[in-house]
Amino acid sequence: MKKFGVNIDHVATVRNARGEGHPDIIEIAHAVKNSGASSITIHLREDRRHIKDSDLKKLCKMNFLINLEIAANMKMVKLAIKNKPKFVCLVPEKRNEITTEGGLDLNKNFNIIKKIITKLNNKKIRTSLFIDPSIKNIILSKKIGTQCVELHTGKISRMIKQKKNFKKELNKIIKCSKFGFKNNIKIHAGHGLDYQTTKILNKISYITEYNIGHFIIGESIKFGIPKVIKKFKEIIK
Ligand code: PXP
Repeated sequence: MKKFGVNIDHVATVRNARGEGHPDIIEIAHAVKNSGASSITIHLREDRRHIKDSDLKKLCKMNFLINLEIAANMKMVKLAIKNKPKFVCLVPEKRNEITTEGGLDLNKNFNIIKKIITKLNNKKIRTSLFIDPSIKNIILSKKIGTQCVELHTGKISRMIKQKKNFKKELNKIIKCSKFGFKNNIKIHAGHGLDYQTTKILNKISYITEYNIGHFIIGESIKFGIPKVIKKFKEIIK
């Protein structure tokens, strides 16, 4: 059975729109856990635009697997080590991006990433690197010593949604996943995934984990609306 991590960043986005406590992130985290997800993913961004330090603290106290995404710097690593999530995934971060636009530049940041991964591995935290799918990136990931990589699926997801020919991108992901598997690196996939893109990628047996966020929150709003409206109609009738 493949693992399924649910990214709840955008629950915090909705909550933060009012600066109060609703929807409650811990309540949602329990609902995600009780619905059969394997883990919860959160991205503690440097600008704290969604998940806050207090969310990280509370979520890491839950009896569940928390996958913390952070930028590759020592300030963030210190926060990770202090809160002890079971998993950490290093991601690139740009202040003005709407979402994580691409994978890590492993070549340019090799030394700092290797230092961070060694530190986290020593603390028995499972490590992952968010990378664009390429053989070169898998070779560098192996040299860095991470246990997992998460392949950025933003490009293929966009191509599928725009009904473009995605064969070349898919082949790249297949080749990369196989190479990673042979090199004893666990292959995860994430970004931009919906039902259709996940179905297509799920044919790749080497992928062992998905991390999905925005689409799940969007669908949850869609399917939750009738129930909530019904409840209000009962109250005001
Ligand atoms: N995986 C990683 C490493 C991410 O940074 C994100 C969010 O940007 C996701 C998965 C989830 O992406 P999405 O919200 O598009 O499903």
